[in-house]
Amino acid sequence: MSDPINAQFRPRIFSGIQPSGGLTLGNYLGALKRFAALQGGEAETIYCIVDLHAITVWQEPEQLRARIREAAAAFMAAGVDPAQSILFNQSQVSAHAEMAWLFNTVARVGWMYRMTQFKDKAGKNSENASLGLLAYPALMAADILTYQATAVPVGEDQKQHLELTRDIAAKFNHDYGVTHFPITEPLIEGVATRVMSLRDGSRKMSKSDPSDASRINLTDDADTIATKIRKARTDADPLPGSMEGLKDRPEAKNLVNIYAALADETPDEVLARFEGQGFGAFKPALAEVAVSALSPITARMSDYMADPAQIDRTLADGADRAAAIALPILERTKEIMGLLRTRN
Ligand code: TYM
Repeated sequence: MSDPINAQFRPRIFSGIQPSGGLTLGNYLGALKRFAALQGGEAETIYCIVDLHAITVWQEPEQLRARIREAAAAFMAAGVDPAQSILFNQSQVSAHAEMAWLFNTVARVGWMYRMTQFKDKAGKNSENASLGLLAYPALMAADILTYQATAVPVGEDQKQHLELTRDIAAKFNHDYGVTHFPITEPLIEGVATRVMSLRDGSRKMSKSDPSDASRINLTDDADTIATKIRKARTDADPLPGSMEGLKDRPEAKNLVNIYAALADETPDEVLARFEGQGFGAFKPALAEVAVSALSPITARMSDYMADPAQIDRTLADGADRAAAIALPILERTKEIMGLLRTRN
């Protein structure tokens, strides 16, 4: 249920992806595919390549530049249309960094230490993590609230960060006695909100997993996709007729969910067709579905990548349009906090 306060804001969808590695099938199904589907509805759609988040861990500068462009190509190849949505990279709109600073004064240190993503990424030697890695969720709240976004489509792993965004909005509104920020709704929907590793059904498919066989990259060719699916870890049992029967079979469940998400079917519809069959039959069928869904995206991505100057123009145009929305909201935020306005 949406917070009643949100009715006061115009419907606006915001989401972001880090350019910290090649994008995966998890990013596609959990995020990009849904970003494209949300276009053209009543809500304005704003999509961002969050390069300032990426640099909270070390990035080789040349590689980062290439990955920002590659991420832009992936957004467009997956169907995000810069004419229908605003598509840009975060560092070009300085309002994000400024708003993040304001939120650093609203958020509490204890909130940040509780974030499981910080604990995972900082590891044992958390004293040595960058300060930015700790403050990461305040920047994420800034991304969202600088546009007063009412809804954010993400995968399951971002749920805790979105709860923190809501906490920051609520504390700001409460402390200053205003209804300046919406209490943003997470949109975590569909069967692919948590695509798991192909090697270990208890771990998320991730661009940072050391094993390339654990994931399908959006740049993998048809043979690589088929090989990775063929080698995916499974069990020896035949498939049941419904998802109920896959409760304790995480690897099998993951492959069925991937199939369903790629084919726009429900997992039960998929199982109704494969009931009683083993993975010897299911895996080649999944490979076929995956290749036919992903190959056109990979091809379009490389077409976009062939013209980096055009990508840069698209991102610059998106940044101008994003800044036009963000700046008045940033200025009003400063004013509420007692700072002097920088623009009239
Ligand atoms: P990031 O870059 O890790 O992932 C981008 C999006 O892909 C989703 N995702 C997955 N979904 C399903 N299965 C998976 N295995 C999988 N792996 C990744 C993520 O949930 C996410 O939706 N902190 C964010 C980026 C961010 C952001 C924002 C998101 C910064 N500011 C504002 C939304 C709004 C992140 O690291 O996502």
